[in-house]
Amino acid sequence: MNRVSVDSEDNLLIGGCKAIDLVEKYQTPLITYDVGMIRKTIRSLKQVFDEASLPYAISYASKAFATIAMYQVIKEERIHIDVVSGGELYTAMEANFPMEDVSFHGNNKSLEELKMALDLNVGEIVVDNFNELATLTQLAKERQQKVSIILRLTPGVSAHTHAYIQTGQSDSKFGFDIDSGQALDALKIALASEFLIVDGVHIHIGSQIFEEAGFELAIKKLLKTLANWRTLLNFTAKIINLGGGFGIKYTDKDDPKDPAELLKSLLDIVKVTLNQYDLPNASIWIEPGRSIVGPAGYTLYTVGTQKRVAGLKPYVTVDGGMGDNIRPALYQAEYTAVKANNVNAAVAEEVRLAGKYCESGDILIENQPMPLLRQGDVVAVLATGAYGYSMASNYNRNPRPAVVFVENQRAKLVVKRETYADLIKLDLPYKN
Ligand code: LLP
Repeated sequence: MNRVSVDSEDNLLIGGCKAIDLVEKYQTPLITYDVGMIRKTIRSLKQVFDEASLPYAISYASKAFATIAMYQVIKEERIHIDVVSGGELYTAMEANFPMEDVSFHGNNKSLEELKMALDLNVGEIVVDNFNELATLTQLAKERQQKVSIILRLTPGVSAHTHAYIQTGQSDSKFGFDIDSGQALDALKIALASEFLIVDGVHIHIGSQIFEEAGFELAIKKLLKTLANWRTLLNFTAKIINLGGGFGIKYTDKDDPKDPAELLKSLLDIVKVTLNQYDLPNASIWIEPGRSIVGPAGYTLYTVGTQKRVAGLKPYVTVDGGMGDNIRPALYQAEYTAVKANNVNAAVAEEVRLAGKYCESGDILIENQPMPLLRQGDVVAVLATGAYGYSMASNYNRNPRPAVVFVENQRAKLVVKRETYADLIKLDLPYKN
């Protein structure tokens, strides 16, 4: 286990603080982030762009983890965000995030959401489909407002990842399909509008991708399309958004390229292909979510009951589970856990780290080597920073955990633990 920091007594450190101290202060289940690690990843991506001497924007895909504190960190790092709902947009607004650095995504934005985005003057609306294009054209005209848009295109490339998180294949609910000519039709409609300004194009082929090959195919397809569009319509994209999807390490089986390294290779492909088609330089945008926050997140749980049957793998149960991390149940996602006060302890057995929810599928880790654990021990599940809290629920009416940011040995509560009172806050009696 060399992915985590420990002190001289083998305690897990998060942002320089002992995990067990955080637990003492904030209880469990507790979601913690090493903020320094988030910043480091962002800076490493920036450096790759700077070295490539390309105009760029890094847009944090905030669906991975969106809270006021997170938007504040992103703002401090001076990168963009993408939002996919009025709720994310509202949170960003409350964090005073600069609206010109916001892109608004989504395959079914409501009229209210579109109006909200126009009221706030978000930087780019990423238009996904013909209905949205029609609504937006109408809205922009009614309001006599110029609206900058990016067209989301579907390049017809499938990424090697779980089917639920593939998005680039032609048969996808997202985007204008390139192969069938939809994308070109969309461009013609958008260019015909007096109020829509088509700044560029967008692709996103999926998430948790390790291989360069899918990206390469998609980039080549996209740039070839742009070369055609230049010939046909004299259209030039100012922005080429390559989406997100860089994979991260969850277990020792995973061997992803470092996101900065992967980005470097992708930019090389972009440069060569732009040249090949004699296309002018555009601003290259990326939208990473998971790779920015995933590795920086640690979920801390307290061990409760255990069930042991001779010949079967033990169930060791913790005080959270699918309500704070649905990914194992939803995608068979795998994680790694460690004992927080003895990270490198000798392995005694392989256990199933089970959650507390009333569902057999609520197993956080199917096969985790562990020392013997006792009630009250604290375990940390690693790399839970992306799509954990953001997909959390109140299933079984369990309150959602607190979230703590840790940086330079300082911890700060950034999302309060829900209370039982919070759980019934929206309930109304049927009978008085
Ligand atoms: N851009 C677009 C248009 C996207 O749809 C996504 C993710 C991203 C960027 C960011 O992708 P990332 O860098 O995080 O891979 N809940 C799933 C992941 C869903 C991803 C949805 N879109 C999971 O837990 O694995």
